[in-house]
Amino acid sequence: TFVVNESCIRCKIMDCVDVCPVDCFYEGENMLVIHPDECIDCGVCVPECPVDAIQPDTEPGLEKWLSLNAEYAKIWPNITVKKAPPPDSKEWEGKPDKLPYFSP
Ligand code: SF4
Ligand code: F3S
Repeated sequence: TFVVNESCIRCKIMDCVDVCPVDCFYEGENMLVIHPDECIDCGVCVPECPVDAIQPDTEPGLEKWLSLNAEYAKIWPNITVKKAPPPDSKEWEGKPDKLPYFSP
């Protein structure tokens, strides 16, 4: 499966949503997650994200993010059409250690 990592937090650009053939993105207040049981590993969302927030779960160190994606995909609403990113989205691009800003 593919996983949304912390780069998405507060950027939430949502270009990924429009290309997913199985609509497996779920929307939180300031990031999206992928439902690991629904993702078909097509990879088309990866180049759509300008901040490289989507990675295969085979990348080392992503366990925490895989768990977070799995947990919140069960709770958050499905999103199938891109919305407007937050007004300050650009300011958060490339910022490290954004987990403290995660909104459950
Ligand atoms: Fe959707 Fe494909 Fe991305 Fe999985 S890899 S989230 S199926 S676009
Ligand atoms: Fe997040 Fe990138 Fe999608 S910032 S909402 S994973 S396009």
